[in-house]
Amino acid sequence: MSLLELSWLNDPLTARGLYATLATGGWLLLCWYCLAPAWRRQHRGSSAAADWLIAYASQSGAARQIAEQLALSARHDGQAPALLPLNDLSLDDLGRHTRALFVVSTYGEGEAPDNAALFWRRARHQRPALQDLQYSVLALGDSHYSDYCGFGRRLDQWLGAAGAQPAIPCTEVDQLEPEVLQQWRARVDSLFGLPEMDDNPTDTVEHWLLAERRQLNPDSPGAPAWLIRLVPVADMPQWQAGDLAQVHIGALRRTYSIASLPEDGALELIVRQVIGDDGQLGQGSGWLCQHAEPGVRVEVVLRPNPQFHLSEQDAPTIFIGAGTGLAGLRGLIKQRQRQGRGDNWLIFGERCQQHDRWLAEELETWAAQGMLTLDRCFSRAEEHAEYVQHRLTARADQLRQWVDHGACIHVCGSLAGMGNAVHAALQQLLSAEQWQGLQQQNRYRRDLY
Ligand SMILES: Cc1cc2nc3c(=O)[nH]c(=O)nc-3n(C[C@H](O)[C@H](O)[C@H](O)COP(=O)(O)OP(=O)(O)OC[C@H]3O[C@@H](n4cnc5c(N)ncnc54)[C@H](O)[C@@H]3O)c2cc1C
Ligand SMILES: Cc1cc2nc3c(=O)[nH]c(=O)nc-3n(C[C@H](O)[C@H](O)[C@H](O)COP(=O)(O)O)c2cc1C
Repeated sequence: MSLLELSWLNDPLTARGLYATLATGGWLLLCWYCLAPAWRRQHRGSSAAADWLIAYASQSGAARQIAEQLALSARHDGQAPALLPLNDLSLDDLGRHTRALFVVSTYGEGEAPDNAALFWRRARHQRPALQDLQYSVLALGDSHYSDYCGFGRRLDQWLGAAGAQPAIPCTEVDQLEPEVLQQWRARVDSLFGLPEMDDNPTDTVEHWLLAERRQLNPDSPGAPAWLIRLVPVADMPQWQAGDLAQVHIGALRRTYSIASLPEDGALELIVRQVIGDDGQLGQGSGWLCQHAEPGVRVEVVLRPNPQFHLSEQDAPTIFIGAGTGLAGLRGLIKQRQRQGRGDNWLIFGERCQQHDRWLAEELETWAAQGMLTLDRCFSRAEEHAEYVQHRLTARADQLRQWVDHGACIHVCGSLAGMGNAVHAALQQLLSAEQWQGLQQQNRYRRDLY
């Protein structure tokens, strides 16, 4: 900029206008600085200023979705409930409410989902005075698990022990039974005066064609795993890396982690063929991996899974998975590449070095391009047989360094077969401070099944 262009600053009128503008701007900035934290608390974290509370605990999104629909109905009616995951709820805020709904699933073996685990750790041994609180717990679960709706039951007992009054008794829902959900919803609607909404306004079934099915592990000692490519019948629906696809096969629903991005032009899944001891194929995987003919129509509901999305912080990212867990991780790694981020570290485990080099070309290309630090390990390798948790232990120094640099850790795959062991290894290898930091800052994100 030349001196001539700057000469308008010498004009007293213009300069006075400028100073006034600067002063007003400064005042507005000051107001924003003072008020923004309160505004943010009201709209996100703290719930104290809201009419009432809808808190959720959700691992793969079902409880969160139900809670969001409730909040939407309430807002249509002009009400202003606070909507937040349990981890964002302090006991003080809870104590200020007189009405609350808790929509909570159970995860692991009767445990709280990750976005409620911190709340539960803080709350379970405390007895806040909640005599003024009227509440209802909707407990989602699956009766195939031994501790059916365990977390929902424990939360309900805890609230009762703190003096809160159940406005509707704790309602257990087995595998999202629609009838039970509708009954509970009808009671909530009349209790809170909510307008009736569509049953499931966000459940949009998308139509796809099965375009390709490629086995990732020919001759593997493990069950066959397939990369399944679906192309849209109409426009490409949108989703985010980390989201889930619920495949509808008649009345059957099966959930799969999405392994691609919309920009790839296809919805890709990695599906393991389930084969029972009697040779019987799993219902969902049997259809997807064997029976469905190429070109067949496939119905899918895309399920947002924000718990597993990439961090907004643009942090270095560690991806840990085994077997079909590669699906969810692959979507995230692709997204990181689109963002131009190369500080990605993948630790991926499979069985046999010779036949289980899933997507080897793609992963090795990314590694060669400097976009990915690649650690593959094989549980049945002739030399150095190891699982991912062993590789983590061998790389403990590197792990600690990445975590100290703010890394976010994503774990995807089987909970019993890998997730629990990785959890234990991380807890053991990291300092208490690092481990707490990961959880409190939501830098430990899991899609486990
Ligand atoms: C969030 C999430 C993400 C997933 N991502 C993937 C993925 O990316 N790739 C992948 O391959 N799979 C994934 N799965 C697993 C997938 O949804 C199916 O469970 C899997 O394909 C087996 O289904 P199936 O119908 O073929 O087998 P089924 O016919 O259900 O049989 C499987 C076996 O489990 C037993 N069984 C049946 N129902 C239950 C039950 N409810 N509880 C306990 N045991 C039961 C059966 O007796 C049989 O031995 C994911 C699951 C979840 C929840
Ligand atoms: C890895 C895993 C562990 C689970 N553990 C339990 C359990 O111990 N008890 C139970 O009742 N349900 C259990 N469930 C079933 C879920 O609670 C149920 O599918 C619920 O609808 C999921 O809701 P969400 O999507 O909000 O997490 C488990 C599900 C998964 C995938």
